[in-house]
Amino acid sequence: MTTPGIRPLVAGNWKMNGQRADGAALARAVVERARGAAAHACELLVCPPATLIAPVADALAGSAVALGGQDCHAAEKGAHTGDIAAPMLKDLGCRYVIVGHSERRTNHGEADAAVRAKAMAARAAGLVAIVCVGETLAERDAGRTIEVVGRQLAGSVPDGATASDCVVAYEPVWAIGTGRTPTSEEIAEVHARLRALLAERFPGGRFRLLYGGSVNAKNAATILPIANVDGALVGGASLVAEDFWTIAQAATRAAT
Ligand code: PGA
Repeated sequence: MTTPGIRPLVAGNWKMNGQRADGAALARAVVERARGAAAHACELLVCPPATLIAPVADALAGSAVALGGQDCHAAEKGAHTGDIAAPMLKDLGCRYVIVGHSERRTNHGEADAAVRAKAMAARAAGLVAIVCVGETLAERDAGRTIEVVGRQLAGSVPDGATASDCVVAYEPVWAIGTGRTPTSEEIAEVHARLRALLAERFPGGRFRLLYGGSVNAKNAATILPIANVDGALVGGASLVAEDFWTIAQAATRAAT
């Protein structure tokens, strides 16, 4: 259940999917569903691949649906072939950027220090960083979940972070794209721990804590009411406007 005073955020991570025509169509379909009062109880965000940010920005223009990137470089600009700087995302109308997603950590060897540097770059550019943490299956099976996410949180969230420039997403690696989710008790345990660690380090901060990993139209009504879950980071299901909207509605219900 959304923490009192916190507006839930439902973020769609489109990952490496979509061409120009279907990206714009998906964005328009999300905007269409989000029209109307209920949508405003919950903030909606879509994070398309970099190639689609500009057309999606056009499709979202004038709507309440926010735009975000899936990653950024730690530097403001320079000789970094293939990378994208946070100010470039900002320039295209992004409000958010995901950093430290487990696919980046695994496929690109990003460690906590690199993730922290990206979150700092995001803040410097005026973006909100969505910092992802989460244990592997081996770590969970070894009973190390709390230790691992605690270490990632400490290393990845920069000093001076505030609720207005940082969101934390708990995404168990083994739940991403697998159709498997932790039990409600397991999600509640990790979120409570993350909440306590953030409160210790940033007293008074009202950070949004998202859950991610196989959130879909069916399980959203179970996951979003869990204590300290302030929204969701959604992969596969965010590619289907109707499913994404069903998840947003579940978040709205959990918040009201
Ligand atoms: P999924 O992805 O919803 O497809 O499991 C979530 C994520 O990677 O953010």
